[in-house]
Amino acid sequence: MRLNGIIIAIDGPTAAGKSTTAREVARQLGYRHLNTGAMYRALALYCLQWGVKDSSDKQIPELLERVYIDVDESAEVMLEGENVAKLLSAPEVAQLASALSTRSDVRTKLVAMQQEICRDGGFVLDGRDIATVVFPDAELKIFLVADEKIRAERRLKELAQQEIEVELQTLEQEIIERDKRDTERTNSPLKKADGAIEIDTSGLTIDDQVERIVELVKRI
Ligand code: DC
Repeated sequence: MRLNGIIIAIDGPTAAGKSTTAREVARQLGYRHLNTGAMYRALALYCLQWGVKDSSDKQIPELLERVYIDVDESAEVMLEGENVAKLLSAPEVAQLASALSTRSDVRTKLVAMQQEICRDGGFVLDGRDIATVVFPDAELKIFLVADEKIRAERRLKELAQQEIEVELQTLEQEIIERDKRDTERTNSPLKKADGAIEIDTSGLTIDDQVERIVELVKRI
């Protein structure tokens, strides 16, 4: 057992409900939630602010040295000391985050930060490589999946709440592209870890998903 509790790793493709589920599981257990995708997105936002257009831009190593990504006391991701949560869902941020996450220098830096932040346990982390790379010794490993159409519809609703208008078809296409990139990249591709429990959320509500995971925690 770690100092503050166990590590719960939640991996899965984009828009499978990982973050919402992880946040609520953490709340119910009195744990903290680290959204690792938000760290890749915060880095993408920083790079966009410096005019980076793609993941082969020559400025990236220097920006990676300079960027200051941190978390506040509730483990919310901060960029240069500021809460940038509202800016992280923009489609251009998501696309660049996915592209940057194929780089090994980017992954090395962010993975080390994630291990440091969560080392005493009492954390629910969600991402793509949590159970395979960041915490292969996590006490509970969950792999969340859902049908592409359902994921696009969920993302559409989420964006609509933030008054971001996008076509459903465009979102579905982006999800397919991102899945492809996330699963086919050489560095830490998205895959189900050994010992991970797969949950298909296509027909489940967030409450159902949360309940299943909390039940699994009780059985540890
Ligand atoms: O979960 P998300 O959509 O916010 O993540 C943004 C991008 O970051 C995603 O396309 C893949 C990448 N990512 C990753 O490679 N590893 C993680 N642990 C989390 C996210």
